[in-house]
Amino acid sequence: MATCGKRHNEFLSMFKQMTLRGFLTRHAHNEGLDPSLICLIENIASACRVIGDRLRNAVFEDNLGLAGETNVQGEDQKKLDVIADEAFIRICGSSPRLAALVSEEREDAMWFKEPQAGDFLLFYDPLDGSSNTDVNLSVGSIFSICNVETNGDRDIQKAGRSQNCSGYAIYGPTMMLVLTVGSGVFGFSCEYGTGDFRLTHPRMTIPTETSEFAINASRYRFWDAPVRRYVDECLAGNTGPRGRDFNMRWTASMVAEVHRILTRGGVFLYPADDGNRAAGGKLRLLYEASPMALLVEQAGGAATDGHSRILDLQPKGLHQRVPVILGSANEVGRIAKYHTADAGSAAS
Ligand code: AHG
Ligand code: MN
Ligand code: MN
Repeated sequence: MATCGKRHNEFLSMFKQMTLRGFLTRHAHNEGLDPSLICLIENIASACRVIGDRLRNAVFEDNLGLAGETNVQGEDQKKLDVIADEAFIRICGSSPRLAALVSEEREDAMWFKEPQAGDFLLFYDPLDGSSNTDVNLSVGSIFSICNVETNGDRDIQKAGRSQNCSGYAIYGPTMMLVLTVGSGVFGFSCEYGTGDFRLTHPRMTIPTETSEFAINASRYRFWDAPVRRYVDECLAGNTGPRGRDFNMRWTASMVAEVHRILTRGGVFLYPADDGNRAAGGKLRLLYEASPMALLVEQAGGAATDGHSRILDLQPKGLHQRVPVILGSANEVGRIAKYHTADAGSAAS
């Protein structure tokens, strides 16, 4: 037993020695990861490191509060939204195979070169949960990478299933980078001092069962029947139809919600409701829903808009919004079933 524990500790400390570059190089060697992707992922990691520094020093650098502009979504931009967006462009824009990027903060795609087959398209939310910056709670950056399919192809509206990498940085008590390059989800913690991202969370998985849900319950009056039914049943606890008590969390930062779900399970809902239906939902498909859906599926969970798998949705615009329900597979399946049953009863 003691030997077993010792081996486990040795194994863990070996992992903690592995840097992001070491991990990606090994993946390129053993699992056929495109080596030119390594440079782009490392540039994303550098951009996130810079954003983490700006966040930590924001109060000293007078970077809290509003920028005084609205973005393409009509949302007030924070100074830090703009700073984070500029860091991504400055650092990732120099990646040799990056053809174009799409940012939450910019109306149009930004092209860097004539697209060639195998080049990369980068989609990102530079600062997610930015309403939390002034109150010093966790925020993040979300990213997604797809390939250009053929020379000269400027089609940028890619379905989530064509992503070859997605991930996020979380700026929490520990800054982390969590990513998938298509086989499993790996978490790297940024070591204070060296700034290295080291593999501390190999193969993150989401348990299929959970007793924790996350939703902005202040929108209860707007919800559709299937969402009300699901939440009402959770709230009823051990004397209700679920026969057990549920816990609830809401951080208003999708990155923090997904990170919690990847760490201990749970389900996250930002559904379509009467208040956001005209816009299509709240969260954006290309740089919020799709990258998180890939991570969640790679960790053994599920992600749906209530009717369809998020990764199968065909985008109709760069900033398209979609309903999002993701996390532990059994709960997501249950909520999807409630939507199907409701659609059936409405039709009959
Ligand atoms: P962003 O800061 O990039 O605009 O995203 C905020 C998103 C998401 O992170 C979070 O889940 C949700 O908006 C919070 O919405 P509420 O303000 O309705 O709670
Ligand atoms: Mn966001
Ligand atoms: Mn944002």
